[in-house]
Amino acid sequence: MPVVALIGAQWGDEGKGHIVDWLASRARLVVRCTGGNNAGHTVVNQYGTFKLHLIPSGIFDPNIVNIIGSGTVIDPEVLLQEIDALRERGIQTNKLFISGRAHIIMPYHVLQDQIQEQARGDAKIGTTGRGIGPTYADKMNRNGIRADDLLHEETLLGRLRAVLEDKNQMLTKVYGVKPISLHDTYLRYLDYGHRLAEHVVDVHPILHRALEKDLAILLEGAQGAMLDIDHGTYPYVTSSPPGAAGACQGAGIGPSKLNSVIGVCKAYTTRVGQGCFPTELGKDDPEAAVLRQIGKPWAEVGTTTGRLRRIGWFDAVMGRYAAEINGIDTLVITKLDVLDSLPRIKVCVGYRLHDSVIEYPPMTVAVLEQVEPIYEEFSGWQTPTSDIRRFQDLPDEAQVYVARLCQLVGARLGAVSVGPEREQMIKVAEIF
Ligand code: GDP
Ligand code: IMO
Ligand code: MG
Repeated sequence: MPVVALIGAQWGDEGKGHIVDWLASRARLVVRCTGGNNAGHTVVNQYGTFKLHLIPSGIFDPNIVNIIGSGTVIDPEVLLQEIDALRERGIQTNKLFISGRAHIIMPYHVLQDQIQEQARGDAKIGTTGRGIGPTYADKMNRNGIRADDLLHEETLLGRLRAVLEDKNQMLTKVYGVKPISLHDTYLRYLDYGHRLAEHVVDVHPILHRALEKDLAILLEGAQGAMLDIDHGTYPYVTSSPPGAAGACQGAGIGPSKLNSVIGVCKAYTTRVGQGCFPTELGKDDPEAAVLRQIGKPWAEVGTTTGRLRRIGWFDAVMGRYAAEINGIDTLVITKLDVLDSLPRIKVCVGYRLHDSVIEYPPMTVAVLEQVEPIYEEFSGWQTPTSDIRRFQDLPDEAQVYVARLCQLVGARLGAVSVGPEREQMIKVAEIF
């Protein structure tokens, strides 16, 4: 049985939650591998509409074991709210397991994230302000507090005392804000530990046994390839590795176990936060207004922060790069229906930099900002597609468009989605 990683192949918000929910019934385990509550994964199914930030999108099937993996960073308050909200709506969470090795987002991380962003001024990254970067930085600096620490009073007190001594120096002397109380923070996080205790385990034996028994495992990526800390548009990236290798590392599954990497792409591109975006359309561009879909439930507004997403044409240079660095073999193209009314659609097939044509995104943002997209133009189909369920029933122009995206990216087509609901999928190949 396969182990499949499903990752975002653009700058996040590609519709990963939708696709994981659609595929999940074929899996026995779904694992969120990296990132934290910077993510917002929307699922629309027979139980309603859900915006998941930390809980894997396989949670709606009571037979599936859902794991929040070791590579994630967890804000316990957000996670508890998410668990409570799901339970209130009748969704079972008794098969939700949290790796004791996952790192905890502490109040000083959120403060640090927000203060640092403010201090960056015009050079701000546009983070979600959820404390993601500082939590990963402390993890790498071996100053972190992990989920398992919340279950052990003395360990928690000892770690917190040492860390707060350092953090409070920084908060008071560098940032000029109030110190964080050891007593209050200790009691608050101990309480979170008590409330999460039934879920926090060593997830390794669960995953290892599943691999031994050949059970199907779906690794749910968060963010997207171009937000990758190593390979993305640095410094306008997140602080984790959102790709296929990061998924293996975050789950604790060896790369040799991976059978396939599914890349999820929108049929166009969006980005939230700062950083270059070669195919971006102007704010007042009429085509951007069509793609933004304001007023619709799937409008291009951030799931986590409510910020307007920036909009642009599909960028096949980024797509091919994302496929190459992650070994994407299968593409799922989402939100094709959003293009339904456009008479002409553009795709970026190369970048012009001064007098030459380049095939890869330049390494540095300063150079990437200078590239000019080279576009290929397609006729639109100007027909509704959201009720179509077979690829051959799509208008010819839509078939041509999708096939060309796959050819340019260099991966086979797995499925196309034509609406946010679980059923609004066109399956093209056996992908899981
Ligand atoms: P994720 O972070 O990758 O899971 O994506 P988000 O949930 O942040 O954003 C995707 C948005 O598009 C959500 O509002 C989804 O409900 C919606 N969506 C997903 N697939 C489709 C689709 O094929 N068509 C339309 N119209 N909306 C979709
Ligand atoms: P999902 O999983 C879109 C972006 C932020 C910002 C940058 C750094 O829903 O696709 P951070 O708070 O991570 O330090 O912010 O990364 N970002 C996302 N953009 N979708 C996401 O997640 C994102 N998670 C982070 O907007 O530009
Ligand atoms: Mg999202």
